[in-house]
Amino acid sequence: MSVILDGRALSYQLKESMRDKVRTLFFQNGRRPTLAVVLVGNNPDSQIYVRSKIKACESIGLEGRLMEYDESLSEPELLNIIQRLNGDPEVDAILVQLPLPTHICEQTVIEAIAQEKDVDGFHPLNVVSLWQGEKCIVPCTPKGIMRLLQEAKLDLAGKRAVVVGRGNIVGKPTAALLLRENATVTITHTFTQNLKNHTLSADVLLVAVGRKHLITADMVKPGAIVIDVGLYRDEQGKVWGGVDFEHVKEVASHITPVPGGVGPMTIAMLMENTIECYLHNINKQH
Ligand code: GUN
Repeated sequence: MSVILDGRALSYQLKESMRDKVRTLFFQNGRRPTLAVVLVGNNPDSQIYVRSKIKACESIGLEGRLMEYDESLSEPELLNIIQRLNGDPEVDAILVQLPLPTHICEQTVIEAIAQEKDVDGFHPLNVVSLWQGEKCIVPCTPKGIMRLLQEAKLDLAGKRAVVVGRGNIVGKPTAALLLRENATVTITHTFTQNLKNHTLSADVLLVAVGRKHLITADMVKPGAIVIDVGLYRDEQGKVWGGVDFEHVKEVASHITPVPGGVGPMTIAMLMENTIECYLHNINKQH
């Protein structure tokens, strides 16, 4: 039976202390940290995510600006909107919800966001800094995962970490952070042969693919730390993780549940990054 890494409880704690911090910052500077969230189109999952991001931000006193646009918004129009947000001194942080409609190039849009307002840490300059181990805005989900591990006082140095999934939002940046903590990191993906061989060798197993219960108990090394970022919604709307939690929890030493594991930590880290962008913006103006 493993220790449950409770992201909901930790994020609650983090939010409480951020609420106090935001109150003080507002008192000192007369302005709240402000996050602009841009949503293009009507992807139902994205709509749920952005609304919960805005609501969570507002719950600790941050200002959330939700900017929703029709699916037909053109790339030049979106780039224009971003330019305006870049130039707005009262906007500290910008998040463009991904995925974007296929007629818009995501990379062009990410590169248009001012580096210091890139609350997601997706801008190429932030990505380079992340891999070089320099100070930068760290992507929210990877940052939340590392905070959960840190909170549980899990030392990663010399551990074998296996990342399942090579996406730019979770897999790759988390691999960079695990490397920073001196883990030996393998990234697996759809072309990987004999996935089970890899997962069975993992002291730390990070699952960042949205396939229901891809990882079963026989694929997990006894005593492993298992982090589940997989999210799959079935036809009934029920959410499943990429890990078969009920069985894997009998094998692992530590495990994150879905929901209530990494998800709430992502939102807490978005708030933390928004405050970081605000402090940068305030210091620049003084
Ligand atoms: N879509 C899914 N996760 C994310 C995220 O962390 N940031 C953005 N911008 N879009 C996402």
